[in-house]
Amino acid sequence: MKNTFLSFVLLLTLVLGVQHARGQGYTPSPENLAAREWFDQAGFGLFIHWGVYSILGDGEWVMNNQNISIDEYQKLPGFFNPIAFDAEAWVQMAKAAGMKYITITSRHHDGFSMFDSAVTSYDIVEATPYKKDVLKSLAEACQKADIKLFFYYSLLDWYRDDYFPRGRTGTGIPGRGEGKWEDYVAFMKAQLRELLTNYGPIGGIWFDGHWDQKKWDGKKFGALQVDWHYDELYGLIHELQPQALVGNNHHLGILEGEDFQMFEKDLPGKNTTGWGTPEDQIGNVPLEVCETINGSWGFNLQDRRHKSTRELIHYLVKAAAYGSNLLLNVGPMPNGEIQPEHKKSLLEMGDWLKTYGPTVYGTDKSPLTPHEQYVATRKGNRIFLHVLDPQVKIVHLEDVPVKINSVRHYDTQKKLPYKQSRFGVQIDLSALVLDSTDTILELTISNP
Ligand code: GLC
Repeated sequence: MKNTFLSFVLLLTLVLGVQHARGQGYTPSPENLAAREWFDQAGFGLFIHWGVYSILGDGEWVMNNQNISIDEYQKLPGFFNPIAFDAEAWVQMAKAAGMKYITITSRHHDGFSMFDSAVTSYDIVEATPYKKDVLKSLAEACQKADIKLFFYYSLLDWYRDDYFPRGRTGTGIPGRGEGKWEDYVAFMKAQLRELLTNYGPIGGIWFDGHWDQKKWDGKKFGALQVDWHYDELYGLIHELQPQALVGNNHHLGILEGEDFQMFEKDLPGKNTTGWGTPEDQIGNVPLEVCETINGSWGFNLQDRRHKSTRELIHYLVKAAAYGSNLLLNVGPMPNGEIQPEHKKSLLEMGDWLKTYGPTVYGTDKSPLTPHEQYVATRKGNRIFLHVLDPQVKIVHLEDVPVKINSVRHYDTQKKLPYKQSRFGVQIDLSALVLDSTDTILELTISNP
């Protein structure tokens, strides 16, 4: 009995010890907490999907979608020569758009590294006629302009033999080999070490592709078939650059060691895509919504689903009302330029933000429930109510848990008539000509 108990205690100690060694009980460093605070206030970032796939003008999934064999796809780097690429111009554009950070694909699912990597020759420096490390010039331009740089890093890989067992995608790509998973994990660690060593201070790492290794029965996801070794990957990042924020687009609640949470093509807690993260899985970390400027992440020549500036502003404001940043994506062309129509919308957003930025940056989610026609952000005892529908004559707010002391039109600071009762609040807009994009009302409240 005693022996059994002793062995039990021993086993427990061992299990707890192992769990500890595997990174259980992650405590973010003070630098990391400060970076989270910064990120939480940043509001708006630029997502960039750029790779050798851009040449084909059919999105970043083209290798999978067209079942391009490894041999054929390998020819693409030979055509990648972005002579019009100008890192400073990208960064200036992001700045003029009112963006505070950039997240760029360092390596996407096609397995091609857009940076100088010593652990593969399948990278931009060794395999393209361009021969230059675009992440390096981007990192330098960002540093100069005080824009933070994050790296998107794909966990999923359609190219390497050691990405084995293979996942659910890329199954029709001819020529994939079979290697050892441990080698793949070691490769990722080596590349992450490069990304966190050779590019100065990094905002963070944006992982993607986790879901590739989840079983799928046609209806729902099952268990993971591999160990991603997140404890080691995340641990390495935090060890090399404690302020670097770790996020993972796994569509789950946050896992141990993650510093921010992203929501792909959905506002936090919504599920219009079918892979949305449920509301009860929203973590107590900074949030980020990512969305495309048209309908594609990577350059897509024939994608005409360009969102209007009005739609984009609405999405930015809605994300802010959900307490989240917006990471808005562009897919630069293979020559290194950003599509002119996208540049134009971004600059128009920047113009709008010059006036209305204070109602977006550094704001929190407000106590008012978001509504189709109006959403609200908050700064201390001020609430910024964004009226997104110019047809609204009277704003009806139900369930207002705070006492409202005044309502003004943000532009003119003119006072507007309102009534508050136990049924909610009504604000009369009949004296205003509403803006076709967004009319902002500034409410002061007494119990912040
Ligand atoms: C999805 C896609 C990927 C894209 C990402 C951006 O995960 O697989 O191509 O990079 O979304 O959110």
